[in-house]
This record gives sequence, C-alpha cells and structure tokens, in this order.
Amino acid sequence: MAIVLGIETSCDETGVGIVADGRLLGAALSSSMGEHARFGGVVPEIAARAHLEAMVPCVTAAFEQAGIGPSDVDAIAVTSGPGLATALQTGIAAAKAYALALGKPLYGVHHLAGHVAADTLEHGPLPPRSVALIVSGGHTSLLLLGDLARDPIVHLGDTRDDAAGEAFDKVARILGLPYPGGPVIDRIARDANPGEISFPRAMLDSGYEFSFSGLKSAVARHVERGFGQAVADVAASFQEAVVDVLTHKAVKACLAHDVDTLLIAGGVAANSRLRQVAAERCAAAGITLRVPRPQLCTDNGAMIAAVGDLLIAADTPPSSLALAADPSAPLTRASLNPCGI
Ligand code: KG4
Ligand code: ZN
Repeated sequence: MAIVLGIETSCDETGVGIVADGRLLGAALSSSMGEHARFGGVVPEIAARAHLEAMVPCVTAAFEQAGIGPSDVDAIAVTSGPGLATALQTGIAAAKAYALALGKPLYGVHHLAGHVAADTLEHGPLPPRSVALIVSGGHTSLLLLGDLARDPIVHLGDTRDDAAGEAFDKVARILGLPYPGGPVIDRIARDANPGEISFPRAMLDSGYEFSFSGLKSAVARHVERGFGQAVADVAASFQEAVVDVLTHKAVKACLAHDVDTLLIAGGVAANSRLRQVAAERCAAAGITLRVPRPQLCTDNGAMIAAVGDLLIAADTPPSSLALAADPSAPLTRASLNPCGI
C-alpha cells in the first residue's frame, strides 16, 4: 500500500491531501477566493503568492490529520496542468522539493482527472466503463472513461465557448451578485421559480458539445430590458437552463454508449439543482449516478492524491523532476509527462 501526498494549486485553492489505497487519510485547504472577489475573478499573481504562503501550513495540517509524518510518504502527486501558469508552478515547485528531499517519485497529474478520481474516495473504484460530466470554472466536458489510470480518455463533447462554472460566475456578475457566482446562484435559486423565464437551451439535441455564451447574453439582454422579476427568479431560470442541458446530454451519452454509470465532477457538481435533476433523470433511465460530496467537487488536494494512488496501483512510470507546468494541457490521460513518454 502506497501513501500519496497530493498537491493542488491550479487556481485559487491550495489543496493538500493524503491518500492510501483509495482512502482519504488527511486533507487541508486554503483559499484566496476572498482576495479576488473585488476583481470579479481570479488574479493569477495574487493566487500564486497565496499558494506560496499557504503551502507549508496546509501540508503540516494534512499530516497532522492523517497522524503520519513526511517520512511515511511513498509518492508525491501534483497538478501540472491545466490551470494558471504561476499558480501551477508554485505547487510543482513544492512537490518537487518534497520529492527530492524525501527521495520519492513525483507524478504530474491532469487536474480534470483529479476531479473524476475525487469520487473514488467516497464511492470506491470506478466500474470498467463510465461516462463523466466534468463541470468546472474552466471546463465542461462529457467523457467516456475506461480505466482512469491506464486507458486514454475519450472526449464525447466539450464546450464551444464558456464553461458551465464560468457561465454561473458571469451571470452572477450581470445580476449584481458576488464572485464566485455558482454557490450564490445555487443558494438564492432554492426558494425561487425556475420556470419564470424560458431561457434558451443551446444545442440541446445536437450531439454532445455545449455552448453557454448565448445563454449568458440572453440573461444580459433580459436584464438590460429592465426585467420585472426578482433577481432570484432570473437566477433560478438561468440555472434551470444550464442544468437541463447538462443532464439531458449526459443521460443521452450514457444510453448511446451503453454505459450504466454517470459520474458528475468539478465545482459545478456541487450545485444542488444539478444533483437533484441528475438523480431524477438517471433514476428514470436506469443509470447509476455518482456525485462526490460538495467538498470533493470543488478543487482540493485529495483528488490529486487519489489520481497518484491509482497511477501507482497501475504501475504508471513517474514524471521526471524536470516536470513543467502545462497551463492548457489537453485531457487525454490522467498522468502528465510520465518518464519515457
Ligand atoms: O472545479 P472548481 O472548484 O475550479 C475549477 O477547476 O475551475 O470550479 C469552480 C467553479 C466556479 O465557476 C464556481 O462558481 C462553480 O464552480 N461552483 C458552482 C457551485 N459551487 C462552485 N456552480 C454552481 N453551483 C454551485 N453550488
Ligand atoms: Zn477544478
């Protein structure tokens, strides 16, 4: 059994997690979100500086929670892409320092594979085949998965423009709500009417690609015209359009590929309405739905340690200490830059 230290710094969360044999032993998280709020989005240099300051305290806290020390670690896994370049570099530098000092292997991990692997910490190993819907601040993808550590990842469809989380953040801004928009819209929509306005469902019945920029513009035009509805009803109607498209395409992908398990991951998977509608539609279609608890949906270190754990179990070669940040790494495999590939 290998004990893996995972480090995540691709955006504004410094995440550290310790995983062994599919089990989460300890984790710590520090967010610089509050420092970005007044800019309406993440400022890379502020995020990178915050990662630098939070790294050692987070690693120490994760070790304390796990009841182990650095000498017990067998491998280090780190997000090496995609993400903000300077933010990624801070985590990679820390991971290399631990790997070098402890004499342990280093694994560069794809951030989105981390979002998928997070679910294994709560619901156990993935079945041999599954469909994953990844919905985060930077990505929206429908994927066909085999063995996450061994097999190439097949993209069924991605977003053509805004990511789902980005749409939540931009629409929140249009509605005068604070950043990040997703959690706020989720909260105020709970007591509102999602059928108040019928916003467009772009590309609903054409393939597995997504487009959310038209929806964002529709909300902006609605607001410009001086809407009569409460902000919460506009937010709920927008959320309903996003959730409708995401769940419709995800269920369709499962049925078309004869897959009986749908996994939803990434920050937007924390959305309560998405979880509810996905549960209803999956139950109706005979599909098993897997969504990790909200803390495992948003960025964290445990998800990266979970990928490292799977890579080691699959005998994947580690990365070299020359591992570099790849800010726009395409998602083709869970591991990035393994030696010799
Ligand atoms: O996965 P994540 O933590 O970071 C990225 O890798 O991007 O996702 C962050 C995104 C943000 O756009 C945020 O607004 C959205 O996830 N988000 C939500 C919720 N919680 C976070 N969107 C909708 N509903 C939520 N409850
Ligand atoms: Zn993420």
